[in-house]
Amino acid sequence: MPFPKLSSSIVLAPMAGGFNTPELAAAVINAGGMGSFGFAYSSPDHIDRALHQTAALTDGPLNANFFVFPELGAPSPALLAEAAQALGELPTPTRIEATKLTVPYAQNLDAQLQAVWQHRPAALTFHFGLPPEWVVEQAHRQNIAIGVTATCLTEAKLIAAAGADFVVAQGWEAGGHRGIFDVEADDEALPLLALVKALSEDLSIPIVAAGGLMNGGDIFEVLVAGATAAQLGTAFLCCDEAGTPATHRKVLSDAATETVFTSAFSGRPARGFRNTFIEAMAGKPMLPFPQQNTLTGSLRRWAASAEESEFQSVWAGTGAAKVRATSAAQLMATLKQELARAAIRS
Ligand SMILES: Cc1cc2nc3c(=O)[nH]c(=O)nc-3n(C[C@H](O)[C@H](O)[C@H](O)COP(=O)(O)O)c2cc1C
Repeated sequence: MPFPKLSSSIVLAPMAGGFNTPELAAAVINAGGMGSFGFAYSSPDHIDRALHQTAALTDGPLNANFFVFPELGAPSPALLAEAAQALGELPTPTRIEATKLTVPYAQNLDAQLQAVWQHRPAALTFHFGLPPEWVVEQAHRQNIAIGVTATCLTEAKLIAAAGADFVVAQGWEAGGHRGIFDVEADDEALPLLALVKALSEDLSIPIVAAGGLMNGGDIFEVLVAGATAAQLGTAFLCCDEAGTPATHRKVLSDAATETVFTSAFSGRPARGFRNTFIEAMAGKPMLPFPQQNTLTGSLRRWAASAEESEFQSVWAGTGAAKVRATSAAQLMATLKQELARAAIRS
Protein backbone atom coordinates (compact mmCIF):
# COMPACT_ATOMS: atom_id res chain seq x y z
CA MET A 1 0.00 0.00 0.00
CA PRO A 2 1.36 3.46 -0.82
CA PHE A 3 1.73 6.05 1.95
CA PRO A 4 -1.34 8.35 1.78
CA LYS A 5 -0.82 11.26 -0.66
CA LEU A 6 -0.45 14.50 1.33
CA SER A 7 -0.18 18.00 -0.10
CA SER A 8 1.63 19.27 3.02
CA SER A 9 3.87 16.41 4.37
CA ILE A 10 2.56 17.03 7.90
CA VAL A 11 1.05 14.34 10.14
CA LEU A 12 -0.74 15.12 13.40
CA ALA A 13 0.78 12.67 15.92
CA PRO A 14 -1.55 10.12 17.47
CA MET A 15 -1.78 11.04 21.16
CA ALA A 16 -3.74 8.66 23.39
CA GLY A 17 -5.52 10.23 26.35
CA GLY A 18 -8.05 12.55 24.70
CA PHE A 19 -5.64 15.03 23.02
CA ASN A 20 -6.75 14.14 19.47
CA THR A 21 -10.28 15.28 18.69
CA PRO A 22 -12.36 15.06 15.49
CA GLU A 23 -12.02 18.86 15.10
CA LEU A 24 -8.21 18.77 15.46
CA ALA A 25 -7.80 15.82 13.09
CA ALA A 26 -10.14 17.39 10.51
CA ALA A 27 -8.35 20.77 10.62
CA VAL A 28 -4.99 19.10 9.90
CA ILE A 29 -6.50 16.97 7.12
CA ASN A 30 -8.34 19.89 5.54
CA ALA A 31 -5.02 21.77 5.42
CA GLY A 32 -3.42 18.97 3.40
CA GLY A 33 -1.94 16.82 6.20
CA MET A 34 -2.90 13.52 7.80
CA GLY A 35 -4.95 13.53 11.01
CA SER A 36 -4.55 10.89 13.73
CA PHE A 37 -6.16 9.41 16.78
CA GLY A 38 -4.26 7.65 19.56
CA PHE A 39 -6.89 5.04 20.45
CA ALA A 40 -4.78 2.86 22.79
CA TYR A 41 -6.98 3.45 25.85
CA SER A 42 -10.28 3.91 23.98
CA SER A 43 -13.30 1.61 24.08
CA PRO A 44 -14.63 0.22 20.77
CA ASP A 45 -17.67 2.54 21.07
CA HIS A 46 -15.49 5.60 21.56
CA ILE A 47 -13.39 4.67 18.51
CA ASP A 48 -16.50 4.21 16.39
CA ARG A 49 -17.88 7.60 17.48
CA ALA A 50 -14.59 9.46 16.91
CA LEU A 51 -14.16 8.01 13.40
CA HIS A 52 -17.80 8.73 12.58
CA GLN A 53 -17.58 12.34 13.81
CA THR A 54 -14.35 12.94 11.90
CA ALA A 55 -15.85 11.55 8.68
CA ALA A 56 -18.58 14.17 8.99
CA LEU A 57 -15.91 16.93 8.98
CA THR A 58 -13.50 15.68 6.30
CA ASP A 59 -12.91 12.86 3.85
CA GLY A 60 -9.09 13.11 3.77
CA PRO A 61 -6.43 10.75 5.18
CA LEU A 62 -6.85 9.68 8.79
CA ASN A 63 -4.63 7.44 10.95
CA ALA A 64 -5.90 5.21 13.78
CA ASN A 65 -3.16 4.26 16.25
CA PHE A 66 -2.91 1.51 18.86
CA PHE A 67 -0.36 0.04 21.26
CA VAL A 68 0.83 -3.58 20.95
CA PHE A 69 2.45 -5.31 23.92
CA PRO A 70 2.72 -8.82 25.29
CA GLU A 71 -0.11 -10.13 27.44
CA LEU A 72 0.78 -10.07 31.14
CA GLY A 73 -0.02 -12.45 33.96
CA ALA A 74 -0.86 -11.18 37.44
CA PRO A 75 2.06 -9.47 39.21
CA SER A 76 3.50 -11.15 42.31
CA PRO A 77 1.59 -10.05 45.45
CA ALA A 78 4.86 -8.71 46.92
CA LEU A 79 5.66 -6.49 43.91
CA LEU A 80 2.06 -5.31 43.69
CA ALA A 81 2.12 -4.33 47.39
CA GLU A 82 5.45 -2.49 47.01
CA ALA A 83 4.31 -0.63 43.88
CA ALA A 84 1.03 0.39 45.57
CA GLN A 85 2.91 1.48 48.69
CA ALA A 86 5.25 3.69 46.62
CA LEU A 87 2.20 5.55 45.27
CA GLY A 88 0.56 5.77 48.71
CA GLU A 89 3.71 7.45 50.11
CA LEU A 90 3.76 10.28 47.55
CA PRO A 91 3.73 13.81 49.04
CA THR A 92 0.11 14.51 48.05
CA PRO A 93 -2.06 16.70 50.36
CA THR A 94 -4.08 13.58 51.32
CA ARG A 95 -3.10 9.94 50.83
CA ILE A 96 -4.27 8.64 47.45
CA GLU A 97 -4.69 4.86 47.33
CA ALA A 98 -3.46 3.06 44.21
CA THR A 99 -6.21 1.86 41.87
CA LYS A 100 -7.01 -1.87 42.24
CA LEU A 101 -5.76 -4.01 39.36
CA THR A 102 -8.57 -5.81 37.57
CA VAL A 103 -8.53 -8.26 34.67
CA PRO A 104 -8.40 -7.55 31.72
CA TYR A 105 -5.48 -5.16 32.15
CA ALA A 106 -6.07 -3.39 28.82
CA GLN A 107 -8.60 -2.91 26.03
CA ASN A 108 -8.94 -5.89 23.68
CA LEU A 109 -7.20 -5.02 20.39
CA ASP A 110 -9.46 -7.22 18.23
CA ALA A 111 -12.57 -5.48 19.61
CA GLN A 112 -10.95 -2.04 19.19
CA LEU A 113 -10.11 -2.79 15.55
CA GLN A 114 -13.74 -3.56 14.61
CA ALA A 115 -14.43 0.15 14.11
CA VAL A 116 -11.27 0.48 12.02
CA TRP A 117 -12.38 -2.29 9.64
CA GLN A 118 -15.76 -0.60 9.39
CA HIS A 119 -14.56 2.99 8.82
CA ARG A 120 -11.43 2.15 6.79
CA PRO A 121 -9.14 5.09 7.68
CA ALA A 122 -6.20 5.62 5.30
CA ALA A 123 -3.64 4.39 7.85
CA LEU A 124 -3.43 2.09 10.85
CA THR A 125 -0.33 2.50 13.02
CA PHE A 126 1.16 0.68 15.99
CA HIS A 127 3.46 1.73 18.82
CA PHE A 128 5.70 -0.53 21.04
CA GLY A 129 5.98 -3.42 18.55
CA LEU A 130 4.68 -5.27 15.52
CA PRO A 131 0.97 -5.92 14.99
CA PRO A 132 -0.16 -9.54 14.50
CA GLU A 133 0.26 -10.84 10.93
CA TRP A 134 -3.50 -11.13 10.36
CA VAL A 135 -3.93 -7.42 11.12
CA VAL A 136 -1.46 -6.47 8.38
CA GLU A 137 -3.24 -8.80 5.93
CA GLN A 138 -6.70 -7.53 6.84
CA ALA A 139 -5.57 -3.90 6.54
CA HIS A 140 -4.12 -4.55 3.10
CA ARG A 141 -7.31 -6.28 1.96
CA GLN A 142 -9.11 -3.05 2.93
CA ASN A 143 -6.54 -0.70 1.34
CA ILE A 144 -5.38 0.61 4.71
CA ALA A 145 -1.66 1.42 4.95
CA ILE A 146 0.17 -0.01 7.97
CA GLY A 147 2.79 2.01 9.88
CA VAL A 148 4.84 1.06 12.95
CA THR A 149 7.11 3.14 15.20
CA ALA A 150 10.86 2.45 15.18
CA THR A 151 13.46 3.99 17.50
CA CYS A 152 16.45 2.29 15.80
CA LEU A 153 17.47 0.56 12.56
CA THR A 154 16.99 -2.95 14.00
CA GLU A 155 13.33 -2.24 14.79
CA ALA A 156 12.84 -0.55 11.41
CA LYS A 157 14.14 -3.63 9.55
CA LEU A 158 11.71 -5.85 11.49
CA ILE A 159 8.89 -3.45 10.59
CA ALA A 160 9.74 -3.55 6.88
CA ALA A 161 10.08 -7.36 6.96
CA ALA A 162 6.63 -7.63 8.58
CA GLY A 163 5.08 -6.05 5.48
CA ALA A 164 4.40 -2.58 6.92
CA ASP A 165 3.94 0.20 4.37
CA PHE A 166 5.79 2.91 6.29
CA VAL A 167 7.84 3.40 9.42
CA VAL A 168 7.42 6.16 11.99
CA ALA A 169 10.97 7.08 13.02
CA GLN A 170 10.72 8.32 16.60
CA GLY A 171 13.71 10.34 17.79
CA TRP A 172 14.88 10.71 21.39
CA GLU A 173 13.37 14.22 21.44
CA ALA A 174 9.78 12.94 21.08
CA GLY A 175 7.11 13.63 23.68
CA GLY A 176 4.91 10.88 25.13
CA HIS A 177 5.64 7.16 25.17
CA ARG A 178 8.81 5.91 23.54
CA GLY A 179 7.94 3.30 20.94
CA ILE A 180 10.93 1.05 21.72
CA PHE A 181 9.94 -2.62 21.28
CA ASP A 182 11.74 -4.07 24.33
CA VAL A 183 11.99 -1.85 27.40
CA GLU A 184 14.61 -4.18 28.91
CA ALA A 185 16.94 -3.77 25.88
CA ASP A 186 19.61 -1.07 25.62
CA ASP A 187 18.09 2.07 24.12
CA GLU A 188 20.27 3.60 21.39
CA ALA A 189 18.68 6.98 22.25
CA LEU A 190 19.13 8.24 18.68
CA PRO A 191 18.28 11.87 17.97
CA LEU A 192 15.74 12.22 15.16
CA LEU A 193 18.03 13.41 12.33
CA ALA A 194 20.56 10.60 12.93
CA LEU A 195 17.71 8.06 13.03
CA VAL A 196 16.12 9.32 9.79
CA LYS A 197 19.48 9.30 8.00
CA ALA A 198 20.27 5.75 9.18
CA LEU A 199 16.82 4.49 8.15
CA SER A 200 16.79 6.22 4.77
CA GLU A 201 20.10 4.56 3.80
CA ASP A 202 18.70 1.09 4.50
CA LEU A 203 14.93 1.07 3.97
CA SER A 204 12.84 1.27 0.84
CA ILE A 205 9.52 2.04 2.61
CA PRO A 206 8.58 5.68 3.40
CA ILE A 207 9.72 7.25 6.68
CA VAL A 208 7.58 9.53 8.82
CA ALA A 209 9.85 11.50 11.16
CA ALA A 210 8.71 12.31 14.73
CA GLY A 211 10.33 14.04 17.68
CA GLY A 212 10.94 17.67 18.64
CA LEU A 213 9.60 19.13 15.36
CA MET A 214 8.01 22.48 16.17
CA ASN A 215 8.26 24.67 13.04
CA GLY A 216 8.53 24.54 9.26
CA GLY A 217 12.33 24.78 9.41
CA ASP A 218 12.46 21.61 11.55
CA ILE A 219 10.13 19.86 9.09
CA PHE A 220 12.32 20.90 6.15
CA GLU A 221 15.40 19.37 7.80
CA VAL A 222 13.83 15.91 8.22
CA LEU A 223 12.46 15.95 4.66
CA VAL A 224 15.96 16.74 3.37
CA ALA A 225 17.34 13.90 5.54
CA GLY A 226 15.06 11.43 3.72
CA ALA A 227 11.66 11.52 5.45
CA THR A 228 8.45 11.48 3.40
CA ALA A 229 6.50 13.35 6.08
CA ALA A 230 6.93 14.91 9.53
CA GLN A 231 4.78 13.89 12.50
CA LEU A 232 4.18 16.58 15.14
CA GLY A 233 2.61 16.00 18.55
CA THR A 234 3.66 18.65 21.06
CA ALA A 235 3.32 21.42 18.45
CA PHE A 236 -0.45 20.74 18.30
CA LEU A 237 -1.10 20.38 22.06
CA CYS A 238 -2.02 24.06 22.60
CA CYS A 239 -4.28 24.30 19.53
CA ASP A 240 -7.82 25.46 20.27
CA GLU A 241 -9.24 22.17 18.92
CA ALA A 242 -6.97 19.86 20.98
CA GLY A 243 -8.40 18.00 23.97
CA THR A 244 -5.42 19.07 26.12
CA PRO A 245 -6.48 19.88 29.72
CA ALA A 246 -5.93 23.46 30.96
CA THR A 247 -3.23 22.39 33.46
CA HIS A 248 -1.25 20.64 30.70
CA ARG A 249 -1.56 23.75 28.49
CA LYS A 250 -0.31 25.95 31.34
CA VAL A 251 2.76 23.78 32.03
CA LEU A 252 3.51 23.81 28.29
CA SER A 253 3.20 27.57 27.94
CA ASP A 254 5.23 28.25 31.13
CA ALA A 255 7.88 25.65 30.07
CA ALA A 256 9.51 26.31 33.47
CA THR A 257 11.27 22.92 33.77
CA GLU A 258 12.81 20.53 31.27
CA THR A 259 11.28 17.35 29.84
CA VAL A 260 12.60 13.96 31.01
CA PHE A 261 11.79 10.27 30.62
CA THR A 262 9.90 8.40 33.33
CA SER A 263 8.31 4.94 33.46
CA ALA A 264 6.53 5.66 36.73
CA PHE A 265 3.17 6.72 35.28
CA SER A 266 2.55 3.73 33.02
CA GLY A 267 5.38 1.18 33.32
CA ARG A 268 6.94 2.26 29.99
CA PRO A 269 9.30 5.17 29.35
CA ALA A 270 7.60 8.38 28.24
CA ARG A 271 8.85 11.96 27.95
CA GLY A 272 7.11 14.72 29.87
CA PHE A 273 7.78 17.75 32.06
CA ARG A 274 9.77 16.95 35.20
CA ASN A 275 7.56 17.30 38.29
CA THR A 276 7.19 16.16 41.92
CA PHE A 277 5.73 12.78 40.94
CA ILE A 278 8.64 11.92 38.62
CA GLU A 279 11.24 12.95 41.19
CA ALA A 280 9.53 11.16 44.10
CA MET A 281 9.13 7.93 42.09
CA ALA A 282 12.75 7.70 40.92
CA GLY A 283 14.09 4.25 41.84
CA LYS A 284 10.76 3.13 43.38
CA PRO A 285 9.22 -0.29 42.57
CA MET A 286 6.68 -0.31 39.75
CA LEU A 287 4.65 -2.72 37.65
CA PRO A 288 5.11 -3.25 33.91
CA PHE A 289 2.91 -1.53 31.29
CA PRO A 290 -0.10 -1.37 31.31
CA GLN A 291 -0.52 -2.49 34.95
CA GLN A 292 1.37 0.53 36.34
CA ASN A 293 -0.90 2.75 34.24
CA THR A 294 -3.93 1.24 35.96
CA LEU A 295 -2.30 1.51 39.39
CA THR A 296 -1.66 5.27 38.95
CA GLY A 297 -5.23 5.84 37.64
CA SER A 298 -6.69 7.18 40.91
CA LEU A 299 -3.71 9.49 41.44
CA ARG A 300 -3.94 10.85 37.88
CA ARG A 301 -7.72 11.34 38.19
CA TRP A 302 -7.29 13.18 41.52
CA ALA A 303 -4.51 15.35 40.03
CA ALA A 304 -6.70 16.18 37.01
CA SER A 305 -9.70 17.18 39.14
CA ALA A 306 -7.52 19.15 41.58
CA GLU A 307 -5.70 20.76 38.60
CA GLU A 308 -2.48 19.63 40.26
CA SER A 309 0.12 19.35 37.50
CA GLU A 310 2.86 18.14 39.90
CA PHE A 311 1.20 14.69 39.94
CA GLN A 312 -0.01 14.49 36.33
CA SER A 313 1.73 13.08 33.29
CA VAL A 314 2.46 16.24 31.34
CA TRP A 315 3.76 14.59 28.17
CA ALA A 316 5.75 16.85 25.84
CA GLY A 317 8.80 16.71 23.58
CA THR A 318 12.05 18.64 23.90
CA GLY A 319 10.71 21.45 21.70
CA ALA A 320 7.87 22.26 24.13
CA ALA A 321 9.04 25.81 24.83
CA LYS A 322 8.29 26.66 21.18
CA VAL A 323 4.63 25.59 21.34
CA ARG A 324 2.14 28.03 19.78
CA ALA A 325 -1.38 28.57 21.11
CA THR A 326 -3.58 29.14 18.06
CA SER A 327 -6.12 27.38 15.87
CA ALA A 328 -4.98 24.23 14.08
CA ALA A 329 -5.79 25.82 10.70
CA GLN A 330 -3.57 28.80 11.55
CA LEU A 331 -0.77 26.55 12.83
CA MET A 332 -0.91 24.47 9.64
CA ALA A 333 -0.80 27.65 7.50
CA THR A 334 2.21 28.94 9.46
CA LEU A 335 4.05 25.59 9.29
CA LYS A 336 3.53 25.47 5.52
CA GLN A 337 4.78 29.07 5.08
CA GLU A 338 7.87 28.36 7.22
CA LEU A 339 8.54 25.15 5.27
CA ALA A 340 8.28 27.00 1.94
CA ARG A 341 10.63 29.72 3.22
CA ALA A 342 13.17 27.13 4.43
CA ALA A 343 13.07 25.46 1.00
CA ILE A 344 13.69 28.79 -0.79
CA ARG A 345 16.61 29.66 1.54
CA SER A 346 18.33 26.28 1.06
C1 LIG B 1 0.62 13.71 24.76
C2 LIG B 1 1.24 12.69 23.85
C3 LIG B 1 0.64 11.44 23.70
C4 LIG B 1 1.19 10.51 22.80
N1 LIG B 1 0.54 9.32 22.60
C5 LIG B 1 0.96 8.50 21.60
C6 LIG B 1 0.18 7.36 21.20
O1 LIG B 1 -0.88 7.09 21.74
N2 LIG B 1 0.65 6.60 20.18
C7 LIG B 1 1.82 6.89 19.51
O2 LIG B 1 2.19 6.17 18.59
N3 LIG B 1 2.58 7.96 19.88
C8 LIG B 1 2.17 8.75 20.89
N4 LIG B 1 2.90 9.87 21.21
C9 LIG B 1 4.16 10.10 20.50
C10 LIG B 1 3.90 10.81 19.17
O3 LIG B 1 3.36 9.91 18.23
C11 LIG B 1 5.18 11.40 18.55
O4 LIG B 1 6.18 10.42 18.49
C12 LIG B 1 5.67 12.60 19.34
O5 LIG B 1 4.62 13.44 19.69
C13 LIG B 1 6.68 13.36 18.51
O6 LIG B 1 7.39 14.25 19.32
P1 LIG B 1 6.88 15.74 19.62
O7 LIG B 1 5.83 15.60 20.66
O8 LIG B 1 8.12 16.42 20.09
O9 LIG B 1 6.33 16.30 18.32
C14 LIG B 1 2.39 10.81 22.11
C15 LIG B 1 2.99 12.05 22.29
C16 LIG B 1 2.43 13.00 23.13
C17 LIG B 1 3.09 14.34 23.28
